[in-house]
Amino acid sequence: MDRADQATSPHTTAYNGARRVLTGNWVGASTVPSRSLYPHQWSWDSAFIAVGLRHLWPVRAQRELETLLAAQWDDGRVPHIVFNPEVPLTAYFPSPDFWRSSTAGAAVGAPAGRETSGLVQPPVHALAAWLVHRADPAASARRGFLRRVYPRLVAWQRYLTEARDLGGRGLASIVHPWESGMDNSPCWDPPLSRIEPVGSDTFHRADLDHGRRADRPTDLDYGRYVRLAEHYRDHGYRDDTCGHPFAVEDPAVNALLALSEHALADIAGALGRDPSDHLVRAEALTTALVKRLWHAESGLFLSHDVIAGEPIPEHSAAGLIPLVLPDLPAETVRALVATVTGPRFGLGERTRMVPSYDLTGPCFDPARYWRGPAWFNVNWLIERGLRRHGELALANELRANLTRLAASSGYAEYVDPFSGEARGTRDFSWTAAVTVDLLADPPPPAGGELPAYRPAALVPAALD
Ligand code: SER
Repeated sequence: MDRADQATSPHTTAYNGARRVLTGNWVGASTVPSRSLYPHQWSWDSAFIAVGLRHLWPVRAQRELETLLAAQWDDGRVPHIVFNPEVPLTAYFPSPDFWRSSTAGAAVGAPAGRETSGLVQPPVHALAAWLVHRADPAASARRGFLRRVYPRLVAWQRYLTEARDLGGRGLASIVHPWESGMDNSPCWDPPLSRIEPVGSDTFHRADLDHGRRADRPTDLDYGRYVRLAEHYRDHGYRDDTCGHPFAVEDPAVNALLALSEHALADIAGALGRDPSDHLVRAEALTTALVKRLWHAESGLFLSHDVIAGEPIPEHSAAGLIPLVLPDLPAETVRALVATVTGPRFGLGERTRMVPSYDLTGPCFDPARYWRGPAWFNVNWLIERGLRRHGELALANELRANLTRLAASSGYAEYVDPFSGEARGTRDFSWTAAVTVDLLADPPPPAGGELPAYRPAALVPAALD
């Protein structure tokens, strides 16, 4: 490809657009997911954002994770939101005066100097830290990046595997739908139906100031989200004594927990430590995941309602995420690939990206938050999983669709899985970040249409 072609190629346009989004959403020590809808720092967003930033500004990528981890609680939890004190309280609900972390969470070690939420999000951080390190090992070594983040990442993983093993089955539970990162998934409808909602006149939803009502959760869902968060807060965010009214083992959270143990093993090795404890933990989590959450009849992993003591019979993209694991049994991989390309998710047939929820399910809605639209971070994980297990043609097709739709949708928060039409907010940071990652990190040359492409000429000098 000569210089003129490269300057006008769709990849260059997509890459430059993504860089513009990430530049615009950087706020000094971290990146907001969206300037309008999400004006603070979000936990799993920052992990995906760092994966993209590493190609553009490796030190900024390190900072992104360091800023998040600086707000870690003493019990190991990494909060799902770290609030920016300069943003008005009315810009986002629930605001810091709702969570009151520094007082309500003091007994379990919430930091005194920062306001955060008391919930968590999926543990992608060790993976992100390892990828960030590998992008520029010299800058990482110079700043002592791995040495500083490793103990925090270990404490974070231990919080989930120990304090959050609420079912005693060797898996972590989420205690609020927001902890799955897939807030409004139909998987949460059965356990949420037991929660008495607070009245919708008792709070003001800032999200509706920025997003279309039809793309967002309903007021009834919000009433239940608020009730659960209040319960946790009013019990001091204590997992041992609060009597969680909602406790679910989610396959995506647990797969990412296992994947992050693999990443911790890599980090430990790079630091000259013995990685074997992490490998043992990764294997134990993978074994528990397959034993407890695999549903052979459905060909995917199902969530488990710990309080009701039963599987939740809804098929969501969370059940495909274990594909990222290296040591999944071969027959499980085969079944997952059949499911992702089959009638429920339609990849390569009916859909351009993997939808968040079963196309044939009773709650499918191609527009509404986590009830059908396709999300870029989820598809990035599935792309990695397909590639890891040798499904190169499918992975390449998904990669090409993802990068194309990110740019054509204006880096939308999510898209209609059939048409690719934009949904939610635009200029969304993780959409831009995973696009940069996929364009900067070309797939093996054997596989598919996307030409090997490394836009080194476009990468500006590091900021620091
Ligand atoms: N994603 C949630 C929201 O919509 C909570 O993090 O605010």
